[in-house]
Amino acid sequence: MTIGIGVLVSGSGSNFEAIARAVQDGRIPEAEVRLVISNRPGVGALDRAKDLGVESLVLDPALFPDRKAYSMKIASEFRKKGVSLVCLAGFLLKVESGLIQQYPGRILNIHPSLLPKHAGRGMFGHRVHESVLGERETESGCTVHVVDEEYDHGPVLMQARVPVLPGDTPETLAARVLKEEHRIYPLVVGRLVEQIRKEGNTSGRSGRG
Ligand code: GAR
Repeated sequence: MTIGIGVLVSGSGSNFEAIARAVQDGRIPEAEVRLVISNRPGVGALDRAKDLGVESLVLDPALFPDRKAYSMKIASEFRKKGVSLVCLAGFLLKVESGLIQQYPGRILNIHPSLLPKHAGRGMFGHRVHESVLGERETESGCTVHVVDEEYDHGPVLMQARVPVLPGDTPETLAARVLKEEHRIYPLVVGRLVEQIRKEGNTSGRSGRG
């Protein structure tokens, strides 16, 4: 049984590529990245999708009456493709509860800090690394977690640590952290794919409601 993966992106898409490559070269067996959805046109993630032969779609939230309608559209596009696991890969919008209810426990996010530190609304990309440097931390890292209804919250599944070095800038620190992101995100996705296969319930819903 092939497990369908959907990815939500807003930017460069390097984490999406790390997952897609792990699937395509068999490190995540019997899985397929079936659809990438971006909330913005013209981003690098869409070029990567094309290069990797993964179908993509731009959904602009401004074209929907509200966030609930937007997230229902995302859910329905993923359902159409048989997606049973959703990965946020640099997706900068808050995930609305309707989508979480469609995929309980099956939406993952990666955040470029050691959660719960340096997280919350507005904390993304370089702002996270600026915050780490501003607080003179001696280490940083990244976290893969299950998405719940709060920003950068939900059960932590894996973390990787990196040192903060003298003279680091947000850019040098980001590059060190990103390397670890690309290593651990596919590991966690692989584990969840395996778990979904064992449970034999690819719908994401518990079946109780
Ligand atoms: C990554 O560093 C990811 O951890 C971060 O955005 C970057 C996206 O890069 N996500 C967040 O800050 C979420 N709060 P990518 O588009 O190259 O994967």
